[in-house]
Amino acid sequence: MAVATFYGLPFTLILSILVLATTFPSVTARAFFVFGDSLVDNGNNNYLATSARADSPPYGIDYPTHRPTGRFSNGFNMPDLISQRMGAEPTLPYLSPQLRGQRLLVGANFASAGIGILNDTGAQFANIIRMPLQLEYFRQYQQRVSGLMGASQAKKLVKNALVLMTLGGNDFVNNYYLVPFSARSRQYALPNYVRFIISEYKKILMKLYNLGARRVLVTGTGPLGCAPAELAQRSQNGECAAELQRAAQLFNPQLYQMLDDLNSKIGSHVFIKVNSKKMHSDFISDPRAYGFVSSKIACCGQGPYNGLGLCTQLSNLCANRDLYVFWDPFHPSERANKIIVEQMMTGSTEYMHPMNLSTILALDSQN
Ligand SMILES: *[C@@H]1O[C@H](CO)[C@@H](O)[C@H](O)[C@H]1NC(C)=O
Ligand SMILES: *[C@@H]1O[C@H](CO)[C@@H](O)[C@H](O)[C@H]1NC(C)=O
Repeated sequence: MAVATFYGLPFTLILSILVLATTFPSVTARAFFVFGDSLVDNGNNNYLATSARADSPPYGIDYPTHRPTGRFSNGFNMPDLISQRMGAEPTLPYLSPQLRGQRLLVGANFASAGIGILNDTGAQFANIIRMPLQLEYFRQYQQRVSGLMGASQAKKLVKNALVLMTLGGNDFVNNYYLVPFSARSRQYALPNYVRFIISEYKKILMKLYNLGARRVLVTGTGPLGCAPAELAQRSQNGECAAELQRAAQLFNPQLYQMLDDLNSKIGSHVFIKVNSKKMHSDFISDPRAYGFVSSKIACCGQGPYNGLGLCTQLSNLCANRDLYVFWDPFHPSERANKIIVEQMMTGSTEYMHPMNLSTILALDSQN
């Protein structure tokens, strides 16, 4: 007998199954793609000539390596914590030279700190990856994966993937309200500006859909006026800054309406609403209930509320980052991110609509 067999299967077949299984270990695992701004950037901006970066200490002080990574956090950010819930390694920044071969199958992070819905948002940061380029990179990514595993497998990987999109805050903070009498604020009254950016956002999401995304978490903006940066610049007595709160109040309901419109046009729940405002407002109205001592003071910064300027080695730095909702003047601490991702996983429809992440992960794994 020339051909060795194992439970009746020819050895060569077993061998090819083994080779396939080790060549494409992640074919059955779900990939994860991340788009958006600094809330979800895993380090793309480290590779760019821009001032919007988090690549020096004390950023990363609580990361496993205790070194800065480009994440705007003391430790993990939202995408890392979602990857953990998916049982996957963290996505690499798309610009990372390490993102090649098998690592491509985990997914990729295309986010870039400073960007917004509009191309002119974050203009002061110069060279960042604006949305048209993030989507172009996603197309290039798919070509690379096709080269690795064939076009139909690549398509399947994208179709079954989870996508996170976090966009919009900078269109207010780093555009409309960046300076008094900004170009956009002279062009549009706030309600008209919100309508304009929602219509542009809709085009971005349709492009993402046309590139194959079929399960997309879309975060609303948090309570923008309550960030330490805004308290430091715009608040008299520590109350959240009214204009930015009004902006978030106009933006979120129109975003959710637009997602509903897209879903009904497509005929499927492709876009999932993530109520970030509700998640953050829980901490802000009762920080102690979540084990925080402050939702107003940033852990790292200077000036009132530690809300002025950048977080650098010269800044005030709190001893225990877990006690603060905000790590720096704009970005949540790792512990706040953990609670947010927990709410994404198990939250009621008030937090996640029409379903939470644990439902999505269970449902889509049956496909
Ligand atoms: C942003 O730039 C892209 C091309 O780079 C263009 O297609 C798009 O229309 C621009 N968006 C706006 C709102 O100007
Ligand atoms: C959210 O997740 C929890 C835990 O998995 C589940 O029991 C619950 O029914 C879900 N809620 C909704 C509204 O989907």
